[in-house]
Amino acid sequence: MAVANPRPALLVTGGAGYIGSHVCKAVAEAGFLPVAYDNLSAGHHWAVRWGPLECGDLVDAGRLDEVMRQYRPTAVIHLAGLIISSESVVDPGQYYTNNVAGTFCLLDAMRRNAVDRIVFSSSAAVYGEPETMPMGESHPQRPLNPYGTSKQMVERVLQDYARAYGLHSVSLRYFNAAGADPEGEIGEAHHIETHLIPLVLDVAAGYRSHVAIYGADYPTRDGTCVRDYVHVCDLAAAHVAALRYLDKSVGAHVFNLGSGNGATVREVIDLARRITGEIIPVRVETRRPGDPAVLLADPTRARQLLGWNPLHSGLDAMISTAWSWHQRVLSRAQAAQ
Ligand code: UFG
Repeated sequence: MAVANPRPALLVTGGAGYIGSHVCKAVAEAGFLPVAYDNLSAGHHWAVRWGPLECGDLVDAGRLDEVMRQYRPTAVIHLAGLIISSESVVDPGQYYTNNVAGTFCLLDAMRRNAVDRIVFSSSAAVYGEPETMPMGESHPQRPLNPYGTSKQMVERVLQDYARAYGLHSVSLRYFNAAGADPEGEIGEAHHIETHLIPLVLDVAAGYRSHVAIYGADYPTRDGTCVRDYVHVCDLAAAHVAALRYLDKSVGAHVFNLGSGNGATVREVIDLARRITGEIIPVRVETRRPGDPAVLLADPTRARQLLGWNPLHSGLDAMISTAWSWHQRVLSRAQAAQ
């Protein structure tokens, strides 16, 4: 006789990705069964360890129905999407198709299958150039690129769907995700790496010759951009808190997820030098288009309403866990040669 799984299932789109795999681990530890729904275009089979992997596209309505009928998820956590801002400027069609049209297909499938809760991965990219600092959720939204616009559009749609269809949501606006699982089981491994910390660690490991600093003439304490880095495990924990929040709240809600502390590009590199013991050469280059000088979250709302406490988001812990993971991945890759 088949034994029913006593754990409530969650459909985690993008569950094989960097943030998605950490979310799967966190929700599994909170007693859920994470069903990773991923087309593996950017995710990895090896990162799915806490529940089944169901391969599929967001735009494949039949496949979404099949998976939802099989697992009967109580909610969806939606992380699948394209994430490179600069690429979105060059190829906006790809971003609107994947991030917006793909989300419509997912929301339709949820309605057909009576799944009425979603936690959506949004981004600080919805804000654009900061007008006040730190940025609260009511800060004006003027995204600087189609990636940010795609996130803003989905948030807007979710407001309408909550009112009209009773599809309740929490949108989590991530600032700069960093770090890796402290137990070393998963970490960041993008096919195309554009993010500062993994690039710096590639240089420390001897895989790249130098780090490009995109602009050293910003009006900041050392001339380089300030970002609000937040540990991926803290981000993952916020998804569990968001699910709990949806147990008692209807409507469409948004929360900033940042530590509220900023670090400059040079501070990140200096700390990475201390942690890795490597020289890490740098080369100052021109500013990257669309980079605001400072991005800093006001995370008060998430602290107060979600009870979120970003415990791991000290820069030291983020770079140290990322470095441990980096070395583990490199030693595995070397062993495979
Ligand atoms: N940077 C460098 N050299 C590099 C890479 C980055 O100097 O080789 C600088 C960037 O100019 C920026 C900072 O390091 O000032 C952080 O850059 P990342 O590329 O790591 O991250 P972003 O701030 O560009 O992007 C992040 C998320 C996006 C999100 C954005 C919104 O990755 O998904 O924040 O705030 F849209």
